[in-house]
Amino acid sequence: AVALATALSVNANAAPSGEPMSNQDWWPNRIDLQPLRMNAEKSNPMGEDFDYAEAFSQLDLDAVKKDLEQVLTTSQDWWPADYGHYGPFFIRMAWHSAGTYRVYDGRGGAGGGQQRFEPLNSWPDNVSLDKARRLLWPVKQKYGNAISWADLMVLAGNVSLESMGFETFGFAGGREDDWEADVVYWGSEREWLGNDKRFDGGKLEKPLAADHMGLIYVNPEGPNGNPDPVAAGHRIRDTFGRMAMSDEETVALIAGGHTFGKAHGAHKPEKCIGAAPGDAPLEQQGFGWENKCGKGHSEDTVTSGLEGAWSANPIAWSSQFLDNLFGFEWVKTKSPAGHTQWEPENAEQVKFVPDAHVEGKRHAPMMFTTDLSMRFDPKYREIAERFHKNPQEFQQAFAKAWFKLTHRDLGPRARYLGDEVPEEVLSWQDPIPEVDFKLVDERDVKNLKAKVLDSGLTVPQLVRTAWASASSFRITDMRGGANGARIRLAPQKDWPVNNPQELASVLEQLESIQKDFNRKARGGKKISMADMIVLGGAAAIEQAAKQAGYDVTVPFKPGRNDATQEMTDIQSFSFLERKADGFRNYYSSEAHLAPVDMLIDSANLLDLSVPEMTVLVGGMRTLGANYNGSQHGVFTDKPGALSNDFFVNLLSMDTKWSKSASEKGLYEGKDRKTGKLKWTATPVDLIFGSNSELRAVAEMYATNDNDEKFVNDFVKAWTKVMTLDRFDLK
Ligand code: HEM
Repeated sequence: AVALATALSVNANAAPSGEPMSNQDWWPNRIDLQPLRMNAEKSNPMGEDFDYAEAFSQLDLDAVKKDLEQVLTTSQDWWPADYGHYGPFFIRMAWHSAGTYRVYDGRGGAGGGQQRFEPLNSWPDNVSLDKARRLLWPVKQKYGNAISWADLMVLAGNVSLESMGFETFGFAGGREDDWEADVVYWGSEREWLGNDKRFDGGKLEKPLAADHMGLIYVNPEGPNGNPDPVAAGHRIRDTFGRMAMSDEETVALIAGGHTFGKAHGAHKPEKCIGAAPGDAPLEQQGFGWENKCGKGHSEDTVTSGLEGAWSANPIAWSSQFLDNLFGFEWVKTKSPAGHTQWEPENAEQVKFVPDAHVEGKRHAPMMFTTDLSMRFDPKYREIAERFHKNPQEFQQAFAKAWFKLTHRDLGPRARYLGDEVPEEVLSWQDPIPEVDFKLVDERDVKNLKAKVLDSGLTVPQLVRTAWASASSFRITDMRGGANGARIRLAPQKDWPVNNPQELASVLEQLESIQKDFNRKARGGKKISMADMIVLGGAAAIEQAAKQAGYDVTVPFKPGRNDATQEMTDIQSFSFLERKADGFRNYYSSEAHLAPVDMLIDSANLLDLSVPEMTVLVGGMRTLGANYNGSQHGVFTDKPGALSNDFFVNLLSMDTKWSKSASEKGLYEGKDRKTGKLKWTATPVDLIFGSNSELRAVAEMYATNDNDEKFVNDFVKAWTKVMTLDRFDLK
């Protein structure tokens, strides 16, 4: 009865009658495989054969841009444009679409068009952007499959800037739309604008970047509403840094962005504003925040609750933001909605900003607390003053920072589409030189594989190295992966997870085989180290399969090239470091989640499904590919052979598992009859027997008729990981 009562009390938030409770509702501590299920779900109405790059190549980008320009200046009665131009509104939409990006896990960002879905669609920071996207619908409808929402939002931001006299750095398409809300950890607070949890311990929790739940970055009124521009400056540095932005880029973005448009806080939100789209009544058809005060839009609009514009002409590019920032002494005031903002001390004498809707009415410019950080934080001030003196430099810095902001999560240049792609190569794009040599053919591959296997390098060494190289990939921002062979370079070569000492010696031997081949090859034929490393893994797996009695070929497609240290931005690349890798049974104290959750997170970053993750873990264990050669989870008498032993032995009732008395976090498997120690395991190993859904897949791989399927599935999943970054093949 006690247990039942406990179970009942846990579920105080039961689902409404008639709706199923999810297992996560019942057992909140159970691991959640949902992020991996998404990779296998068929929720994309475009179907598997749809090729977005191909569809985009049919697009007349100039025509789309002309139509967008038309939309910008055609005010609609249902949401009239401020100053007769939707440009600033669309810039905010594009910035909020891209600005959720964060470096630690590559999640968020413009890719996928996630602003269309909850939670982002209904975030308090995205108030009114439902209208911005609806204004774009006629353009989306007209061009259909050829331009995704994700691309269209960024493009609309660019066209807005151009339409207001700003020269942009370029535009690349290539962001395919998602069709369901992404599962992203945005923080553990249960209240909008809460931030009581994320600063536990004094520092913003990783991998978060925003300093409040439901905000893109920081609170415009200062940290937790404290109107202190210097304190706000620290928060801005921290959060914009986690968006991959330097101080210079941050100043350029804030000063550049807030040249345009206005803030909206005509009334007290609590008196006027209805539910967010996620909670709004059916008849509103996706719109939220219904405003019942005054006209409900135009001069009565309530968005952030702050009110006013930064520039005399908010629909033209200028350096007015900086002129005003330094030109006035700013004093605190309140918006009509009651929020703290700043006005010039002589506000009455400097009413040079026209009203956005009411003819003849004029206002003084305003600033947010966070805008004033650009003047009162000493480092930001130095940059802002330089920009103020050199408008041309400011213009270029904003153009480049805007391009980075909106393209950061699109991945390497190989993914860029369209004829507005800038030629200049930027270090944050993790550039890889173009292949300017003849590639190896099938015979060369066969010979090279034989040489690798002859070199004395072992199966575990080759598998670990290939895995280390390829598994740095993150589907979230398309960075990392085997291409470029950055595993040879700082910082990747020194990451603890890669066992730097062993790695260096394996790479040295592979390099000597590579050099020897390249020296002797004729007709400009060469193999890169990036290809050598992947080829080494393939050779090892074929050998391991043979040892288990299976004759398989691991597909190998040459065409990777090697980056140099100079092409590698060490700081930016450091964010790809894995602090845990369940596939190699590696876990460090710096991991931000428990071992099993880290495994699921890694699998998610590698775009793996539940079965793919399962087969890879099982195979890597019997291949002996654990970090440092540890024996945990190596449930086989024939390590180095590719067999389904991991699953067979894990599920065997001959073994009884218990927590290790000597080592925390470890488990011991003893023979049920003799009590003799047979195996040791980590939680990442035992979860495949403990979690009911993972056990189901483990059982499938452990049955007598699926031993060969196991080998084939392993090879398939392995090949997928090795080619995750081969955008040239897709
Ligand atoms: C408007 C906050 C950075 C572009 C606003 C508004 C707020 C805000 C509260 C008013 C929204 C409304 O009531 O309608 C912030 C904060 C930032 C930041 C706290 C960082 C510290 C940026 C950046 C850009 C940008 C980086 C673009 C590069 C804009 C634009 C508007 C705007 C164009 C005007 C929108 C309109 O006219 O409808 N911002 N912002 N902001 N923001 Fe920002």
